[in-house]
Amino acid sequence: MAIKKVLVVGSWAKEQITVENIVNNSEAGVYVFMDTYNPGIIPLADGFCIGDFYDTESIVGYALSVSADLVLVTTASPLAAGLADRLEEKNICVFGPTKSAARLESDKAFARRLMSKYIPEAVPDYGVFSKAEDAIGFAREHSWQVAVKFTGLREGLGVKVFGDQLKNEDEVVDYIKEVLDKGKGPDSQVVIEERLIGEEFTIQCLVNNDCLITTPAVQDFKKLLPQDRGPNTASMGSYSDKGKLLPFMEEADYEQALNIIRTTIKGFREESGKCCKGFLYGQFMLTKKGIKLIEYNFRPGDPEWLNTLTLLKGSLLKPVEAVMEGESYSCDFSKQATVCKYVVPPGYPEELNCLLKVNWDEESISHTGAKIYYSCGKNEEGKLQVGSERGIAIIACGDTIKDAYLRIESAIGRLRGEFFYRKDIGSEEQILEKCRRVKLARVNG
Ligand code: AMP
Ligand code: GLY
Repeated sequence: MAIKKVLVVGSWAKEQITVENIVNNSEAGVYVFMDTYNPGIIPLADGFCIGDFYDTESIVGYALSVSADLVLVTTASPLAAGLADRLEEKNICVFGPTKSAARLESDKAFARRLMSKYIPEAVPDYGVFSKAEDAIGFAREHSWQVAVKFTGLREGLGVKVFGDQLKNEDEVVDYIKEVLDKGKGPDSQVVIEERLIGEEFTIQCLVNNDCLITTPAVQDFKKLLPQDRGPNTASMGSYSDKGKLLPFMEEADYEQALNIIRTTIKGFREESGKCCKGFLYGQFMLTKKGIKLIEYNFRPGDPEWLNTLTLLKGSLLKPVEAVMEGESYSCDFSKQATVCKYVVPPGYPEELNCLLKVNWDEESISHTGAKIYYSCGKNEEGKLQVGSERGIAIIACGDTIKDAYLRIESAIGRLRGEFFYRKDIGSEEQILEKCRRVKLARVNG
């Protein structure tokens, strides 16, 4: 399959690095459909269109107008709206799940029901409720040690956990009511789960039914504040180690997580008889009772995809083509560690739709070895504007996580303006503490 023109659908940092990878490693022309004027993507692309991700007709129209022979959909909302189905109807080759498969991400109740049938050991005790009193009863039975979730897409901001964002029983009750009040469509229900305790990790794969291509594990940090406190965000940063494991992981953890992904896909196929294709992201928690799945995203993670593509040697189109043909393929990754941090406006995530008042000297940043990617737009006055996204992602590699960490800190030290970021992500103390905690849990588990 000779790909001459690729259309990427998405407007965050994960799309910028996707476009950059294709531009630098292939002859293909790259076009982008975005909902934000992303200043990092525009200079790289051969063409772009700004529009609404739920307007699948316009995206299909744009794909036809640029004669795209492959569409990479890396954003959840157009997939949930059925973009892959619309593209396939027009015989346009797409790498991304149909609306039905995208429910693994866009409908948490569906994902939990499917998994509890096919791989129950990976699922925490949970319930799906449409009445507040039933949901509150479930929470009470679990001594309020629960996670309360919107069922649908919420840009990573729809989950609150007792002991983290929910301080007491009253807050659990209030959040259950809030979810049910605000919910529409699949969100008219609330998902409540037993609160899991452990270390989280992410594994991203390229899948096409039984064919699966893997990438190294990454750890993502969703909480706003150091030491994993405060509200959940779309993510404040991530790191990966040399090789496919994280410092606290064993080979068996990685294999167990892959088995969960494989079994879920098999279950989905058995249940629906439908194709399951795209970038599948599994977020796991290593608990005393084994590996549990926290959630699936049927798209690459942001920023985890930055860790992954920074290390990928060669064009992303090669594994995409291979998996679409159902061929096995092993990606070649640099043997380096990476650290990525998001720099966000001081009021994030409470205040969205605001300016990110940060500036920097490109040359000075490049001396540190770090690179900047955008998950925000530029407004008509040339200012960085954060809508529902986050800010800028800064990523660096190194021979060790510590090397990468020091590069990032040096780069962030060269930024000027008003911003917030998490200094602790990827620090030596943090990684040692994680290893200590997991070791203890393995001994006592
Ligand atoms: P999600 O949007 O489902 O990835 O959840 C956001 C964050 O909430 C995760 O990264 C976890 O830190 C936390 N979380 C979700 N589900 C649970 C759970 N059952 N137990 C503990 N923490 C959870
Ligand atoms: N890093 C979390 C996400 O992409 O949803």
